[in-house]
Amino acid sequence: MPGSKTFGELLNAFWLRPETAMWRELDIRAMASFEFRSPSLDLGCGDGLFSFIRAGGRLDEKFDAFRSIGDLDKFFENADVFDAFDKSTAPVVMHEPGYKIDCGFDHKDNLLSKANQLGLYRNLKTGDANLPLPFPDQSFSSVFSNIVYWLDMPERAIAEIARVLRPGGQACLMLPNHTLPEFSFYNQLFAKTGDKDWAFLEKLDRGRFADNIRQARVGQAWEAMFETAGLRVVTHVSHLSKVAVQIWDVGLRPLFPVLCKLVNAADPSKLTEIKREWIATLKQFLEPIVQMDRKLELDAEPAFHCYVLEK
Ligand SMILES: C[S@@+](CC[C@H](N)C(=O)[O-])C[C@H]1O[C@@H](n2cnc3c(N)ncnc32)[C@H](O)[C@@H]1O
Repeated sequence: MPGSKTFGELLNAFWLRPETAMWRELDIRAMASFEFRSPSLDLGCGDGLFSFIRAGGRLDEKFDAFRSIGDLDKFFENADVFDAFDKSTAPVVMHEPGYKIDCGFDHKDNLLSKANQLGLYRNLKTGDANLPLPFPDQSFSSVFSNIVYWLDMPERAIAEIARVLRPGGQACLMLPNHTLPEFSFYNQLFAKTGDKDWAFLEKLDRGRFADNIRQARVGQAWEAMFETAGLRVVTHVSHLSKVAVQIWDVGLRPLFPVLCKLVNAADPSKLTEIKREWIATLKQFLEPIVQMDRKLELDAEPAFHCYVLEK
């Protein structure tokens, strides 16, 4: 069963937000054909956990992504609780990743400090990907990015990716499909209708709709941008069924601050055992959903595109 090892690792890291583990496992499966060929760039690498686990890295069982967080009391004011760094919570690497990435790039120093603890990146660089990338033309043989749709001008970001790629180099891009906003409870029931009865969904959405999915587009629209930038489509995989997105849309998100408090108050000698049982329970439900992603497409196209492109 390809990817099941990575799913175990993702659940270990994101046990309090299992919906994130499910989403990221589907990303890993969608990008199976992509190789980080050196020199490689992870554009918007964040804390590096996704790329570390995708590369086969394993952290100790006690590690999770929620040890080093901040602003928990501002969670419902849409604070990025992950934008914090606590040196004392360094992860223990149990298994080195199967490859290294030459450069990790992100605009948040705290996230890069976390990424630095993983031993995955040869270099880390802070910068704003809305601006021209701080790399000379033809610097990389491979670029992975899951952030193009977070940026103000995706066309410009794609042109920049093409500029820093060498001829024959490949880019792997995760991009939202036009169906993503259609699957969002907040968008469908409140943003589109203005029906005040659904206003509580703002607390569930926490600004994600405005921030993350404003650039959702059909495949042909993305493909036109690739062509303009001089990139040819090698593979195109659609993933994230409506069912998966709607599980993710709710998930354990609203309970997150209180779950963190519960974990911090728990007896550390019992926590590992409880965490194992928690993960085993979740796997029973989420593993079949991951396996069935294709089958669950039903009458709507999946919410994300994963493109591998060549210059
Ligand atoms: C969806 S996350 C992806 C993180 C990681 N690559 C992954 O796949 O899990 C988006 C990342 O983009 C970064 N980001 C957002 N806007 C950015 C910008 N303008 N410049 C650089 N990084 C940015 C965020 O800090 C975050 O780490």
